[in-house]
Amino acid sequence: MILIRNKTKRLIILVALIMAVFSASAQQMNETEKSSLEVLLQVYKSPTCGCCEKWMSHLDDNGFKTIGHDTHDMSILKDEKGVPADYRSCHTGVSDDGYIFEGHVPAKFIAKFLKEKPAGAIGLTVPDMPIGSPGMEYEDEFDAYEILQIMQDGSVSLYAAVNTFDEQF
Ligand code: CU
Ligand code: CU
Repeated sequence: MILIRNKTKRLIILVALIMAVFSASAQQMNETEKSSLEVLLQVYKSPTCGCCEKWMSHLDDNGFKTIGHDTHDMSILKDEKGVPADYRSCHTGVSDDGYIFEGHVPAKFIAKFLKEKPAGAIGLTVPDMPIGSPGMEYEDEFDAYEILQIMQDGSVSLYAAVNTFDEQF
């Protein structure tokens, strides 16, 4: 009788252990799945830029994983990456596959661009720093702005016009 009870006990413990292992691996799978969906973006910025960090948080909240790099001479980097001189902003994001995202481009448009990968384009830019764009929030002010597509030859074309605050998300 005692022997049987011990056997039952052992069986219960064994089942509990197996269940624990299964649920742990299920959790791990979810984490892996999640990180595989995240798009990695290296962000080059000046060490004192607050709006750059706010833009990075916006991306981190919307399916990206940003890694910041403090850079003292941003113009050298922008020259190297091919950001046209007239269409620059405070920071430069670079995706794993080498596309560039200059300035306060909303996450939604970066995701769309990376999905479509338009022929001949090397990235997107939001020149300057429009008030109300992601990372540039100021009270409830919003200035309409354009997202431009940067082409291999250094020219730009309109990618999207953002006319209202809500269109950014
Ligand atoms: Cu900025
Ligand atoms: Cu910035």
